[in-house]
Amino acid sequence: MAASVAYRPARRPLPASLMSKPVLYAMVVVAMVVSGAQGGSVKHYKWKVDYQYWSPDCVEKVIISINGQYPGPTIRVREGDTIVVEMENLMPTEAVIMHWHGMQQRGTPWYDGAGGVSQCAINPGETFVYRFQAEKAGTYFYHGHLGLQRTAGFYGSLIVDVGRGVQEAFEYDGELSILLNDWWHRSAIEQGLGLYSDPFRWVGEPQSLLMEGRGKYNCSLVSGGDAEEAAGDRPRCDETNKQCKPLVLRVQPGLKYRLRLASVTSLSSLNFQIEDHNMTLVEADGNYVEEVVLDNLNLYSGESYSVLIEAYKQPPGGRKTFWVTAHVQGRLPKTTPALAILVYGDGEATTPVSSPPLAPAAWNDTAFSLRQSRMIVAKKGTIPPPASSDQQIILLNTQNRINGVIKWAINNISLVPPTTPFLPALKFGLKLAFDHTIPPVSYPMTTYDIFSPPKNPNANFGTQIYRFPFNSTVDIILQNANSLTVNNSEVHPWHMHGHDFWVLGYGHGKFNPEVDPQAFNLKNPPLRNTVPLYPYGWTALRFVANNPGAWFFHCHVEAHLHMGMGIVFAEGIEHLDRLPRSTMGCGLTKTWLP
Ligand code: C2O
Ligand code: CU
Repeated sequence: MAASVAYRPARRPLPASLMSKPVLYAMVVVAMVVSGAQGGSVKHYKWKVDYQYWSPDCVEKVIISINGQYPGPTIRVREGDTIVVEMENLMPTEAVIMHWHGMQQRGTPWYDGAGGVSQCAINPGETFVYRFQAEKAGTYFYHGHLGLQRTAGFYGSLIVDVGRGVQEAFEYDGELSILLNDWWHRSAIEQGLGLYSDPFRWVGEPQSLLMEGRGKYNCSLVSGGDAEEAAGDRPRCDETNKQCKPLVLRVQPGLKYRLRLASVTSLSSLNFQIEDHNMTLVEADGNYVEEVVLDNLNLYSGESYSVLIEAYKQPPGGRKTFWVTAHVQGRLPKTTPALAILVYGDGEATTPVSSPPLAPAAWNDTAFSLRQSRMIVAKKGTIPPPASSDQQIILLNTQNRINGVIKWAINNISLVPPTTPFLPALKFGLKLAFDHTIPPVSYPMTTYDIFSPPKNPNANFGTQIYRFPFNSTVDIILQNANSLTVNNSEVHPWHMHGHDFWVLGYGHGKFNPEVDPQAFNLKNPPLRNTVPLYPYGWTALRFVANNPGAWFFHCHVEAHLHMGMGIVFAEGIEHLDRLPRSTMGCGLTKTWLP
């Protein structure tokens, strides 16, 4: 996979003065650099995880921080390096698991950091060491993967540069990076409880959208006076707090920048724009794409991109500052857009003279979003997909009700992660750890009406797992449907652990297995790890089950996964030898000693 793109023209060297602060910072804080086995280096990080007061949108909250920072520290390594993260959980009453989103974990599936799948949770007071290789250059991130810990602010950027002496596929002078997120004032724990309660309580739309962990809530909307605040009845809100100062992107006139964008939103799909500047898309989820010029970019939760932006030699109207915005797309927006400021030169980050650009399309304009998705194709030279697949699985996405509580289900099964993680359960044949029934590979396609709320909203809880012959090629068709609400079907960004997949196509309505595959893009389908499933539509993807382990495949909307919207894959377990003891010790692995 290392050389997925053959063409890598020269890149101008990057003067240190033009690197963004996080870049320089990451280079300085790497504690230890020693030579690794395959010629790469070993980069060692020591993290302390704890609760902390923070005011991401000026409203003070308790977040999960790493080394006292929010977002967490940026990991920056080169392709082929080994990342070692020694993580100490200092939270007194909450266990954690960290997932390295986009890392394929070949040979180390036990360090994938997926609750219920790859490891036991890291209990209060414990230290756990993750150790894995950064296989492929690109823009990635990490986030908590237990309960709603992403919603609690537990994430950061993970950037993998090309190997030493290797040229990037495009040129640029400087680099910038933004991690996007949505933000709630209700705690993640309370949100999680609401989703499991009867009556069910939905998390609602976010209070703010954040860029690099910074947003702005209107403090006058936080009701109550000083007395209430002192009594703890009203959260503190301080618009002058440094933590909610808007993000500033600084550029020098005439230079070209690579802007890395990643969305770790819990719920929202976003549309990103830079006022009066277009963007050339060059990378998606750590894979090169054919360059395409856009004035705005949709980002679904779990996706990452690199775009190139050219700073004007002389900005129009002599302006020195421009708006950078992110609007909610795909859901009825109830949240004001995220705002950052692009600043030319070394001047002050004054408020731009214009008003921020509006959203480029209506929130429910699926055709607009679909058009953009279809513009993203693999760069020439990317590994093409196998010409055919060994099996096809059609996954119907439905909203259901189980014992009165709203759930999401895939082919009528709502996932409940087992107490014993799948990986050790499979490896050691712990038969009682999960349900061994083979899950359905389709739904009653001829009779199911995807345009109406389900006739029978009941679904079943389950822990089934799809097991694939090692190295086989699998086609997945994600099929959307009407939710429990009339005339409503939601966007679901699906993310696969352990693999990239080729996106073969999108369609509206019910997938037709006879006709639709004829229109699959087998020529230049993009390689991704996350893909949107549009309202009332289908999305087709292909991947090769060539990574021994057990892997989550789920909707990246955190509340949806919490409500059961995911499945698990496994392949090649027989090729794994030793499982680290540190990853076990819960459920049936408590008494079972390898
Ligand atoms: Cu970024 Cu399983 O998720
Ligand atoms: Cu979803």
